[in-house]
Formats: sequence, structure tokens, C-alpha cells
Amino acid sequence: MGAQQLLRAAALCIASLAGIANGALDFESVQLQDKDVSAFSAEEFAKGDPPPQSSDKLPLCKAWPGNADWPSAVEWRRFNASLDGALLQPDPPGEVCYQGPDYNAAKCAYLVNNASSNHYYIDDPINVLTQWPEGNTCLPGLNVVGNCTRGGFPYYVVNATTVKHVQATINFARNNNIRLIIKNTGHDFGGRSVGAGSISIWTHHLNAFKFLPSYKRGNYYGPAAHFGSGLEQYELFNQMFLNNVTMVGAGFRTIGANGGWFASGGHGNLASLYGLGADQALEIHAVTADGRYVVANEDQNSDLFFAFRGGGPSTYGVVTSVIVKAYPPITTVQSYLSIACNPPPDTNARATLAPLSNVTNYVNDTSRFWDALQIYFKYKQTIVDAHGVDWDYLYPLGNNRTSYSFRVRTTFPNVTTTQAIALLQPLYTQFAAHGFNFTLNTEEMVPQPYAGTSVTNPATLSSLGLTQTRYRSRLLPRKNWASDTVFNQTFAAIRNSVENGQYTLHGLGYGPSNEVAGYPGRTGAVNPAWREAVLHIALVTSQPIGLTAAQARDEESRIQGYFQAWKDVSPGAGAYMNEGDPGEANWQQSFYGSHYPKLAAIKKKRDPWGVFWATTTPGSEAWEVKSVDGYPHSQNGRLCRTGVKRI
Ligand SMILES: Cc1cc2nc3c(=O)[nH]c(=O)nc-3n(C[C@H](O)[C@H](O)[C@H](O)COP(=O)(O)OP(=O)(O)OC[C@H]3O[C@@H](n4cnc5c(N)ncnc54)[C@H](O)[C@@H]3O)c2cc1C
Ligand SMILES: *[C@@H]1O[C@H](CO)[C@@H](O)[C@H](O)[C@H]1NC(C)=O
Ligand SMILES: *[C@@H]1O[C@H](CO)[C@@H](O)[C@H](O)[C@H]1NC(C)=O
Ligand SMILES: *[C@@H]1O[C@H](CO)[C@@H](O)[C@H](O)[C@H]1NC(C)=O
Ligand SMILES: *[C@@H]1O[C@H](CO)[C@@H](O)[C@H](O)[C@H]1NC(C)=O
Ligand SMILES: *[C@@H]1O[C@H](CO)[C@@H](O)[C@H](O)[C@H]1NC(C)=O
Ligand SMILES: *[C@@H]1O[C@H](CO)[C@@H](O)[C@H](O)[C@H]1NC(C)=O
Ligand SMILES: *[C@@H]1O[C@H](CO)[C@@H](O)[C@H](O)[C@H]1NC(C)=O
Ligand SMILES: *[C@@H]1O[C@H](CO)[C@@H](O)[C@H](O)[C@H]1NC(C)=O
Ligand SMILES: *[C@@H]1O[C@H](CO)[C@@H](O)[C@H](O)[C@H]1NC(C)=O
Ligand SMILES: *[C@@H]1O[C@H](CO)[C@@H](O)[C@H](O)[C@H]1NC(C)=O
Ligand SMILES: *[C@@H]1O[C@H](CO)[C@@H](O)[C@H](O)[C@H]1NC(C)=O
Repeated sequence: MGAQQLLRAAALCIASLAGIANGALDFESVQLQDKDVSAFSAEEFAKGDPPPQSSDKLPLCKAWPGNADWPSAVEWRRFNASLDGALLQPDPPGEVCYQGPDYNAAKCAYLVNNASSNHYYIDDPINVLTQWPEGNTCLPGLNVVGNCTRGGFPYYVVNATTVKHVQATINFARNNNIRLIIKNTGHDFGGRSVGAGSISIWTHHLNAFKFLPSYKRGNYYGPAAHFGSGLEQYELFNQMFLNNVTMVGAGFRTIGANGGWFASGGHGNLASLYGLGADQALEIHAVTADGRYVVANEDQNSDLFFAFRGGGPSTYGVVTSVIVKAYPPITTVQSYLSIACNPPPDTNARATLAPLSNVTNYVNDTSRFWDALQIYFKYKQTIVDAHGVDWDYLYPLGNNRTSYSFRVRTTFPNVTTTQAIALLQPLYTQFAAHGFNFTLNTEEMVPQPYAGTSVTNPATLSSLGLTQTRYRSRLLPRKNWASDTVFNQTFAAIRNSVENGQYTLHGLGYGPSNEVAGYPGRTGAVNPAWREAVLHIALVTSQPIGLTAAQARDEESRIQGYFQAWKDVSPGAGAYMNEGDPGEANWQQSFYGSHYPKLAAIKKKRDPWGVFWATTTPGSEAWEVKSVDGYPHSQNGRLCRTGVKRI
């Protein structure tokens, strides 16, 4: 053995002692060393001792820029140098629309007119897609009033490209009592990837990918893929195509393939066949709150392996990469149905009819329209049981309870067109028996590779800009389909919120049961409510800009009135946090179910410092954001201890 080999062997031995036997991606093998730390003590790893338990010894709030507790400019420069210059201090993108030194009419016009049709907003280091949680600040617009303020955006961003960057940032934030957030793509609807006065770890560039043709772990032996947590869904689709496999992914192409999506479950077209995103993980690599890089699987760090798979984002560590199962390539068959009731003649409202199918069926008698929908919703269980999923939207048009548009896409994986028609024929027979002459749209049912070839160009991906979206949702269980009586009550609650509440309804038929989740999926922390679910159903609203805090609270209580009826017909069920309400009452039960106590205990053990925090994650009761304007769930203020010792 030469000296070089000896050194390598020694390094491997040390790595395996540290629990990193093998299999780190290249960016993960660049790690924070003791020599780095001894040169800059602000980046010291956590000592074994937990922090003092009595809260009067602890600072009440996280440090705040400009206050005495904030590190000096010199410290920040040293921190930046230790990161090889990866520290950014980006301004909100909308800044170019506001009077001041950075005003730029051309750039502003670009943001307003063109940036949503490409990857611009997704590639921004601080921008998030839902604006109200960042305090509705610095919104891009051609005729804006007021000033561009920082609001809930982070103060600094670390453009992480190595595990060392992640470790150094966690240590620096913990040692200096600075709020830490993690931003991947910024799709989160509840403000979990923004936070005032914080350092953000930006994982966007941790997107390495490695295909593992024959991977063995526990009971699993087969193809797998190992990829960084910055990979986006479209990149995963492309990799599926290149490697002739199918993997479980999100429906939306710009979502992170294993960031927040996977951390709370993660649904997609294969949910009723192979389960959720979190169910696919065989091994997870992460940096924990003590600054250490760890490998978690069934054999080591099994508490983290459990918690990372559905137990909430930004809570136990920064996931740097995941190894997931890969399957033989399969095709899907899709079917479309559109039903409209008295749609208005104006073109704008017609846009919401945007056909998933070219054929719109009219049922202009409102009561008959609801009958048709009830038949469809009842059939969802049959679709899910056949490993299918569906995806529907119901829009009230106008505000007179007589005009609606409903459209749904049903997807069956791993079947032929003939089989898919056979699966749906009983539904259309029932429609006909009730006098609805709807045509089973075979025309649209084209088998296509799950991994398309046409998604390589990120510039044409998104059509996604900035929104004010708010979700309230429920995972309705199989029980609600068990008898006509209970199903009718369920449907009445759904109908009431659309008819009298005039809210947009988004229903997704999914059945990621334990059986479907398989090995090792069923042992993860995915909300048990997912395992019983037939329908993930949501009221989706767009929070108007300019609401005062009081108006926002009024709007919240109005919608909660309708939403309570959903809870009443599904006692003990839960909700999907990623598309749930950040104001959800008793969110611990709704989002985590019976796993909550175990998850809170893992949080307490792994992060006694409170390094990681995000709305409605395990242990988050211990802290709250002091919103500067009292706006509910806004991230625009300081993060402080609540004194609640639930964990
Ligand atoms: C247009 C749109 C379509 C959607 N479609 C779907 C869908 O088809 N299926 C579905 O299940 N959901 C869907 N969602 C919801 C989606 O799953 C969530 O928005 C999810 O939070 C996105 O995760 P992200 O990592 O891409 O986003 P981010 O907002 O960047 O992160 C979300 C959360 O995860 C944390 N996080 C990110 N990376 C890491 C990491 N490496 N380690 C630890 N914590 C991390 C962040 O701190 C934050 O708390 C959709 C959302 C949008 C806006
Ligand atoms: C960090 O250092 C790099 C390289 O020197 C520099 O470009 C960048 O502006 C610095 N970041 C901050 C926040 O000062
Ligand atoms: C930008 O948007 C404007 C207004 O919609 C449009 O006229 C223009 O063609 C767009 N430019 C590009 C480069 O897409
Ligand atoms: C915007 O900033 C300017 C300069 O600091 C200040 O004079 C003005 O009052 C601010 N306007 C608002 C609406 O806050
Ligand atoms: C972040 O780092 C990546 C990889 O080095 C680089 O391509 C990108 O330009 C950086 N982004 C910013 C905003 O500095
Ligand atoms: C892809 O995999 C399938 C089954 O695993 C196989 O039948 C097919 O020949 C492969 N296609 C290519 C292009 O390798
Ligand atoms: C239903 O009403 C729409 C207009 O709202 C009209 O275009 C359509 O022809 C009507 N269909 C039937 C079957 O009455
Ligand atoms: C209800 O509102 C819709 C949409 O504005 C309109 O097209 C329709 O004519 C209205 N119907 C009645 C009965 O007012
Ligand atoms: C349906 O719409 C698609 C997309 O607009 C189009 O390509 C297709 O030809 C249409 N089919 C029919 C039967 O009109
Ligand atoms: C897919 O279909 C084939 C052929 O019917 C079947 O052998 C295979 O088991 C199916 N795969 C799954 C995961 O159900
Ligand atoms: C049902 O609709 C189809 C296509 O629009 C039409 O050809 C057929 O005659 C209709 N059948 C009945 C019973 O109305
Ligand atoms: C359920 O609702 C359907 C449609 O309105 C009705 O035909 C049926 O009798 C109801 N069943 C029960 C048990 O309420």
C-alpha cells in the first residue's frame, strides 16, 4: 500500500467510524474539519451538553439585525470567508419596481410581464411563491406605492454547494442564536421557507444525481437513485427517462424532488400504486442541529430515518440527499371530464373552464349538476382502489349559487387504454342511468411515458409566478365512503362550502395505504391519515392583497366555519401539512396524528437548541413569530420563545 492509499484507507476508516460508511455524493464529501473550526470558533460543533433547561437563562428571542446580540460586520466577513464567499445578501426581486437607488423600469416590466413564464422566480435566492407570509412586502408591480421593505425575507443567504457550507451555517447560527431557515424552491404555502432576521440555507444548487442500478438496503434489492435535495421534479423526470426507470415524483415540475415535498409526505400520480414520496426513501443524508453530517437508515440514526420520512420539514436537520427506490418504466392512461353549469358568456370566466378535455358537458340545472358531482365523488374510492388517482377543481362562477365549472383528470398507472376504459365504464353507466349523457373520453386517454422527453428546458417550465394562495384541507378516509348515509353527509359538507361559501374546491383522489407504501415506506412518519385516505380535499383561496390583520383574521374565521363541517364528518382524520392551513386548529393531531409525541421527542433530543423552526412542525409550539403587523401566520417579525413546554 502506498502512502496515498494508506491515507485514503485511514480516511475511509474515520468516515465509517463517524457513521458515513460510504455512498456520500461528491458535494457531501466536502465537510467541515476540526482545523476549520479551530480557526474560527463561531463555527464550533455543539458540545454534548444540552442547553440550560430553565428558560430564564435563555435569550427570549433570536438575535436581531442591528441589535447588540447580532454578530459584528467583522464576524460576518469571517463567516463569509469560511464559506469561500458563498454568503449572499440579496434584495427582494420586486425592489426594481420601487422608487430608490435600485429602481429600474425595464427590469420591473420584465418581472411583471415575463418572469412568471420561465424559471426566474424559482431561481431567486429568497423569493417564495406565496407572498402573504413574507408580509406582502416589495410585491412586483408597475404602479406600486410605498417602499420596498425586507419583511419576512431572510437577512443573509448561504448559497450552499457543499455539506461544509451547511455545517458551518448551522454551527454559526446556533452559536450566535440566529434564526435559521431552509429554502429550496420556495413552493411552500405556509411561509416555511421565509423568516425575518434569519440566515437561509439555500439548497437549490445541491442537485447532484447518481443512478444506482442495483442497490441493496435491508429487504430492498433493486435499482435506486441517489440525489441531492436541490433537484427539481423536472430534473428527476429527465433522469427517469435517461435511466429507463420510473420514480415517484410530484405532480408539479418545479417542486423540489426531496425537500419539503418529501418531508411531509409528497403526493403524485403514482400515490395509489407506490405510495408517497417519503415512502420511497431507503437512506437519508443530512446535517443535524449539532452541525454533524449523518447517514440515516434502518440500521443507523433510525430515529431520524423515521422522522425525515414525513415528520415535517426544517425540523430535525437539513437533508442533503436521499436514496430512493426506482421501478421499471410504466405508462399511465388519463381520462378527462368537464361539467359546466350555466357558465357566463364572458371569456375571462370561461378561462377557468380551460378544458382538461375538449368536451364540456353542460348541466344547467344546478340541482342536477350537484347530483352529477355526487356520483363522481362517490366513485373516487373505486378509482383509488384500482391504483388510480384523480385531480379535480370545482369553481363557483359569479356569486349566485347557480354557475359552476368542474373538471377532473383521472390517471391510471400501468394499465392499457382498454383496461382504463373498463375501470371507468361503470361510472359512465351510472351517469347514463341518472340521465347524464356524458361520453367517456377515450380520445384523451393516450398512454404516454411517465418520464416525458419534453421537459429538459427549464425556461419553459413554470408558468408560475407569485400567488397569495391559502389552503385548508382534509384527508377524508375510506370510512366516509362506507355507507350512503355517511357519504351523503360528507358530500353535503363539501357542497355547502362551495355553494354557500363560494370557495374553490380542489380534490385529489389518492390512496397511499400502508400496503401500497410497502417496504420500508410504511415504517416512516407519514401522517397516518394518509394511509386511510381516499380523498385529499382542499378549499383554496387567494388571500387578497391589502387586507389588514383584523380582516385577515375575519376571513380566517369565515372559512373555518365551513371547514369545521369537514372535520365534523371525519372525526379523528387528518390533513396534509404541505397543502394544509398554517392556522389549523390542533395541527399536531391533524398533521401528524398518533406520530406526534414520538416526533416531538425526536425533535427535542436532536435539536434541544431550537436551531430549526417552521410553522406547524413538531416542537414548534415552543416558539412564535412576533409579526410586526399582527397579520396571522406572517413571518415578518422576530422569532421568540412562547414559554410553552409542550415538548
Ligand atoms: C404550484 C404548486 C404545486 C404543488 N403540487 C404539489 C404536488 O403535486 N404534490 C404535493 O405533494 N405537493 C404539492 N405542492 C406542495 C409542495 O409539496 C410544498 O409546497 C412543499 O413545501 C415544496 O417543497 P420545496 O422543497 O420545493 O419548497 P420550499 O418552500 O423551498 O421548502 C418547503 C419546506 O421544506 C423545508 N426544506 C426544504 N428543503 C429542505 C431540506 N433539504 N431539509 C430540510 N428541510 C427542507 C423548507 O425549510 C420549508 O419548510 C405544490 C405546491 C405548489 C406551489
Ligand atoms: C461574500 O464574499 C464574496 C466573495 O468575496 C462577495 O462577493 C460577497 O459579496 C460577500 N458577501 C457578503 C454578504 O458580503
Ligand atoms: C413580455 O411580456 C410582454 C407583455 O405580455 C410581451 O408583449 C412580450 O412579448 C414579452 N417578452 C418576452 C421576451 O417574452
Ligand atoms: C418611503 O421611504 C422614504 C425615504 O426613506 C420615506 O420618506 C417615506 O415616508 C416612505 N414611505 C412609506 C409609505 O413608508
Ligand atoms: C450559487 O452557486 C451556484 C453554484 O456555484 C452558482 O452557479 C450561482 O450563480 C450562485 N448563485 C448566486 C445567486 O450567487
Ligand atoms: C427499459 O426497460 C424495460 C423494462 O425494464 C425494457 O423492456 C426496455 O427494453 C428498456 N428500454 C430501453 C430503451 O432500454
Ligand atoms: C347551458 O348554458 C350555456 C351557457 O351558460 C349554454 O352555452 C349551453 O348551450 C347550455 N346547455 C344546455 C344543454 O342547456
Ligand atoms: C350567475 O352568475 C353567472 C356568472 O357571473 C352568470 O353568468 C349567470 O347568468 C348568473 N345567473 C343568475 C341566475 O343570476
Ligand atoms: C383537443 O385539444 C387538443 C389541445 O388543444 C388538440 O390538440 C386536439 O386536437 C383536440 N381534440 C379534438 C378532438 O378536438
Ligand atoms: C404492472 O402491470 C404488469 C402487467 O399487468 C404486472 O405484471 C405488474 O405487476 C404491474 N406492476 C405493478 C407495480 O402493479
Ligand atoms: C348522447 O350524446 C351523444 C353525443 O353528443 C349523442 O350522439 C347521443 O345521441 C346522445 N344520446 C342521448 C340518449 O341523448
Ligand atoms: C344519498 O344521496 C343520493 C343522491 O341524492 C340519494 O339518492 C340517496 O337516497 C341518499 N342515500 C341516503 C342513505 O341518504
